[in-house]
Parts: sequence; C-alpha cells; structure tokens
Amino acid sequence: MIARKAKALARSRRGIAPPALKSSVVIVTAGPTVEDIDPVRFLSNRSTGRMGVALAAVAAKRGARVILIHGPLQVPLPRGIPALLTRSAREMYRSVMRLADHADVAILCAAVADFAPARKAPRKLKKGGRAELVLRLVRTPDILAALGARKRKPLLVGFAAETDDVARHAKDKLARKNCDMICANPVLEKGSGFAGRTNRVTIYRRDGNTRKLPLLGKTAVAGRILDEVEDLLSRKNRRRRP
Ligand code: PMT
Repeated sequence: MIARKAKALARSRRGIAPPALKSSVVIVTAGPTVEDIDPVRFLSNRSTGRMGVALAAVAAKRGARVILIHGPLQVPLPRGIPALLTRSAREMYRSVMRLADHADVAILCAAVADFAPARKAPRKLKKGGRAELVLRLVRTPDILAALGARKRKPLLVGFAAETDDVARHAKDKLARKNCDMICANPVLEKGSGFAGRTNRVTIYRRDGNTRKLPLLGKTAVAGRILDEVEDLLSRKNRRRRP
C-alpha cells in the first residue's frame, strides 16, 4: 500500500499519467449462478465468490469505479462497491449486457452454468413411481463470448476453470471468446480454485505475454491480475493519444 502511494507520488512529480485503472469503469462478475429445476431444487456449483470479490475490492482500492455483478455469495460483499445480485446465467447475462456499454474493463470471474433446465417446473417434482428422472438441459448464453463479439468491447478478462490440459483449454478460450487476457485456473490443484483463500493462476495475454503466478492469497492474485490489466490499459491509452 505504502509502496503504491510512493510510486504514485513519484509518477505525479515526474508528470507521468496516473495509473490506468483510476476512474475506469470496471465490471466484475463473481460467484456461482443458480439454475432452478423446481421451487425447491436447483443446479449450481462450488464458487463462493471469494476470487471475484477480491478483484472488485482491489480494483476499487486502485481508484476504479467498480460494479460487482454476482450470484449468491458465501463471502461478505465489499463495502462501498455497487453490487447487483443475480441468480441464473440468463439473469447475469442481461445485467452484464445492460452495463457493458459503459465499461472500460470487464473481468468475468463468475462460475456461470453452461446448461440450465429447459423449463422450471412450477411445483415440486414428485417421485411418483419413477425409478429415474431425466432432466432436459439447454445451453445458457455465454456472457464472455457475447462481450468478445461486440464491436465496442471493454478490455476483456476471462477465467478458465480447468481440471486437465489447463493451458491448452485456457488458450483456446482466450482465442475463441476474443478476450484480451485469460486467467487459467487449475481447480484440482491443492490450494487452487473454488472456495479456499488461495489460488494458482497463469495469465495468458492475447499479445503473447504469459505470467505464471505461484500459489498466492486471492487478494494477491487479484492484485497481479490487475497489474496486467493496468499495463494493457496504459498501452491502449498510449496508442489512442495523438
Ligand atoms: O468463487 P471462488 O470460490 O473464489 O472460486 C474462484 C473460481 C474458481 C470460481 C474462479 O477462480 C474461476 O476460475 N472462475 C471461472 C469459473 C468458470 O466458470 O470457468 P469456465 O472455464 O467454465 O468459463 C470460462 C469463462 O467464461 C469464465 O470467465 C466464465 O465467467 C465465462 N462464462 C462461462 C459460461 C457462460 N455461460 N458464460 C460465461 O461468461
């Protein structure tokens, strides 16, 4: 914290532009989505929201105007950050799309369901005499891919939660979803991924730069991801200047 303040002071004395995140509008998604089967049952996943909340909190500390769009969280919301609670993937998609035009950066850390029940039963499904029940699932909208396909897209950071062939799958998502950066997250490694306080992430940038981070606390991981975001933003701003 003190080091950052000292750096900022030195920058302003030398007449260098302030850090690129300052006053940028940053959308962060966090937590799981919940796909209802009937009024008492749902499909969801193991995300607590800790990683996304850390990203939102660190970005806000660095002066960004953060909007947190999240599913049901198992961690406290960060103070002073506007937050929008959503439930299903479709709801999260709508909220992100509504705000995306105003965003300079979008960091999609939420664990979004890829499939949801084709319909929510209006009443509790009864066992009856059945020995099995087949649920029909349909694809949900892909928020990251939809942002990547926009003509005016924010600087786009995705995550890739993978169990095997992590680098290949992450690089494939980086290209296919047209991201500027993807954070590959090996979720089977000890201390990495869902629920815990630590994470292990490798950052792949579209410009070819790669940062393999050690196992770190989620706040520290958020800081390292946002360092890369600031670097990309300041390069973008330099290109825009006449
Ligand atoms: O919340 P924690 O308990 O702290 O756990 C953190 C985490 C493991 C959830 C986080 O670090 C992480 O890896 N988040 C991404 C989870 C995920 O759903 O990954 P994916 O590989 O399935 O999705 C790839 C990317 O597409 C992600 O940026 C995801 O937000 C996005 N996506 C996926 C499906 C969909 N329908 N729309 C999307 O936008």
